Formats: sequence, structure tokens, C-alpha cells
Amino acid sequence: MKIAVLGTGYVGLVTAVGLAEFGHSVVGADKVADKIGRIRRGEIPFYEPGLDALLGTALRKGSLSFSDDLPATIRAANVIFVCVGTPQGDDGSADMAQIEEVSRLIAENLNGYKVIVEKSTVPVMTSVWIKRTISLYKKSEAEFDVASNPEFLREGSAVGDFLQPDRIIIGVESERARELMLRIYHRHRDRILVTNIDTAELIKHASNSFLALKISYINLMANLCERTQADVELVAKGMGLDPRIGSRFLKAGIGFGGSCFPKDLKALIKIGEDLGVDMSLLKETDRINQARVRLLLDKLKAALWILRDKTIAVLGLAFKPETDDIREAPSIRIIQALLDEGARIRLYDPKAADNMRELFPEDGVRVVYAASPAAATEGANAALVCTEWPEFLDLDLTDVKGRMANPILIDGRNLYDPAAVQALGFEYFSIGRK
Ligand code: UGA
Repeated sequence: MKIAVLGTGYVGLVTAVGLAEFGHSVVGADKVADKIGRIRRGEIPFYEPGLDALLGTALRKGSLSFSDDLPATIRAANVIFVCVGTPQGDDGSADMAQIEEVSRLIAENLNGYKVIVEKSTVPVMTSVWIKRTISLYKKSEAEFDVASNPEFLREGSAVGDFLQPDRIIIGVESERARELMLRIYHRHRDRILVTNIDTAELIKHASNSFLALKISYINLMANLCERTQADVELVAKGMGLDPRIGSRFLKAGIGFGGSCFPKDLKALIKIGEDLGVDMSLLKETDRINQARVRLLLDKLKAALWILRDKTIAVLGLAFKPETDDIREAPSIRIIQALLDEGARIRLYDPKAADNMRELFPEDGVRVVYAASPAAATEGANAALVCTEWPEFLDLDLTDVKGRMANPILIDGRNLYDPAAVQALGFEYFSIGRK
């Protein structure tokens, strides 16, 4: 079996490397030749723990290669994983232009039976469009099937998620495609759920939106905790002890970001509305999430009153730890709001600073990037924790206090123990607890 993976972004590269690790012969293809050149040299354009080592091994073994010749890659494959981007369009829906372009290319190069697998997150019923597009443009009589195999990778643990998945969802509508897909994932047969294609597509969106809902729910409880003597950490712990609820994704904070939850939530709202379904529950999930950043800034203002010309340290820029990804990171809206208020900001992140520099370039006055978390707090009137990087737990807080103009710590991720931090002399504000 020869597998092609079209698109070498985050999902595509992890998929290509993972499928090669499963023992398949894989070609990863991308029309951006420069990107392919770098990947061939083992250079990964983003930070993902463990991926570089596996890429190196697969390249050396020859089980994985890369090409910028998409037509040739398509012609040589029996199974084609479509991993191109589906960015958010202006109205919240996913922009399907790249999927359509790749579908046409597959049609033009269909030289025998192939299974075309949707791996990128796509709206329910996308397979109908892919099928129609291929049928419209194909030049041969060759047959094909479309399958859906949504990815459930989390950034920061994507390699483990791919190699040891909780579940593999396969949406198919022919026995032939089913057999091929089962062969690809033969190592994990016990974790495979086979459904029709609409169901598989919806499982992906439904899962992400449910997790987003869970986070907004605990954030709503955090708001209640702040007006009572309740502690959201213990509320989450108590709720999580019920196995029907589960303890994961009940961490209150400044809200969810990343390339998936915000986008997928909006896309599902749009899909539902287009289909005439009332999506208020998910709209509220999004609204609660949007409001998180304002709540954090309100805490800062309650501590400092006026932010103009105050120096604020921002610790953590990535949308979560173990990644350099800043897409939809709450920190972006926080930084923008601080600058709008006329504050000076000192930023630190162990991995994501370079990406943030592109959005907020260093000017040496209003925007400064620090080389360490301690250096970021130098002369600061307050420090904001936006990402729960483990290294922040090792910070020498006594040293930090000595560096700051005012020892005010606003912890958007409930990283520290309130009593311990207050005992050091900090004014400490966190989420949903005293
Ligand atoms: C998410 C899903 O977890 C994956 O299963 C899915 O495959 C992926 O989207 C995708 O669709 O591609 P990811 O975006 O990498 O993965 O990140 P998560 O670990 O899910 O975190 C998302 C956001 O939620 C982060 O900003 C995180 O800080 C926030 N979060 C998470 C909370 O605020 N509280 C929690 O309890 C958990």
C-alpha cells in the first residue's frame, strides 16, 4: 500500500511521520517547494516534542519521503490523506478552497482506484462536495472512495496521540474503503469505530465543541466562586470525581485558544445554523470564552487602577504549554488591550516569543521581550501569567518580588498556591478562588 499525505502543516507532518512509524510507505507532499526542502533536511517548521526524532528515523529508513510534485505523488498512491488547511472564513465557517483545489488535482490525476481520506477538520457533509468535485473533473473511468478519518491530535503531545490513540474514527461508505482503512490502522484494531461519513465528520466537531463547552462551564463556575467563598479548583475536583463527568478539561483559566477549539466551535455553530438548528448552547460557550480576557484585565485594573505607563510582565504567550503556537492565544488579546491602555509590556515565553514578535515587534520601549521569566518581571508593576509553563513553578518568587516595582501577581492559570504566594508578600489574584 502506498500512502500520500497532501499538506505538510501540523496535521500533515504528524500524520505522515505516524503512518511511516506504523510501517507504511508514505510520501508527504506540499506545493511549497521550500518547505519540502527543509523537511527533507529534517527541519520541522514548528515545535512539537518528539517529532524531529521520528522524522529523522523515518527519513533514514526510507519509509517516508517528501515531494513538491503533487500530481506524481497522487498518481503513485492508493490512499491519499488530505491534510491541507481549512482556515476560518469571514462568517465563521471553514474556508474550503484548499480542499477543493486538492480535490481537483486528485481528479486530474486519478489513474486507478484510490481512497481519499479527509484528515483535516471539515464541516459535516464535506465528503459530498469532495466526491462531486472529483467526479466533475476526473478524466479517467477509475473509481474512488472518500473516507473520513478525523485527527484528534493535541499540540504538545501529538506524537503520542497519533501512535497511541484513544480512538480511531473511520467514516466510510464502501467495503473496499473500509478494508483499506482497517489495514492502515491494523495495530490499533481494538480502538477503531467505523461509521458512515457524516457521523465521522460530526464526531470530530462534536468532540472539540464538547471539550470547549466543558471549559466554558468551569469558567462560569469560577465566576460564581469569585462572588462566594467557593474555590473553583475544589469544585472541579469534586465534580471530576464523578466518573460520568471526569476530571479532565475542567481547569478554569483565561479561556481556550489554539487553532482548533475557537475555530471548530464557530464552524459548528455556522453548520448548525445553516441546517436550521438552534445553536445557542455553543454560542454561549464562545461568548463565555471571549469574556475571559476582559475579566483578567479587570483584575489588573482593580489592582493598579490606571494602566497608562505602567509596566506589565506577561509570562507565557503560547495558547498552552509545550508549543510555540500562538494562534487564538488569549495572550494576544491581553497584549493588545494592555497596549491600547498605554501600558508598557515585558514579554516572556520559552518557545513562542519569536512567533509573538511577528505580531508585536520589539520596540525597546512599549514592547520588550525578556530572556527569562525573572528578567520579564524587572521593574514591573504587575505580572500576568497567561500560560502554565512548568518552568514558572520553579521561579524563585522571592527574587521576582525583589525585582518588581509592585509585587502584584495575576495568575490566569491558577498555577501557584495562593497561601504560599501571599506569605511571600505578593498581592495575588487568580481565577475562581481567594
Ligand atoms: C484540541 C483537542 O484537545 C484535540 O483532541 C484535537 O485533536 C485538536 O484540538 C484539534 O482539533 O486538532 P489542542 O488545540 O492542541 O487540541 O489543545 P488542548 O490541549 O485541547 O487545549 C485547547 C485550549 O483549551 C488551550 O488554550 C488550553 O489552555 C485550554 N484548556 C484546556 C483550558 O483552559 N482548560 C482545560 O481544562 C483544558
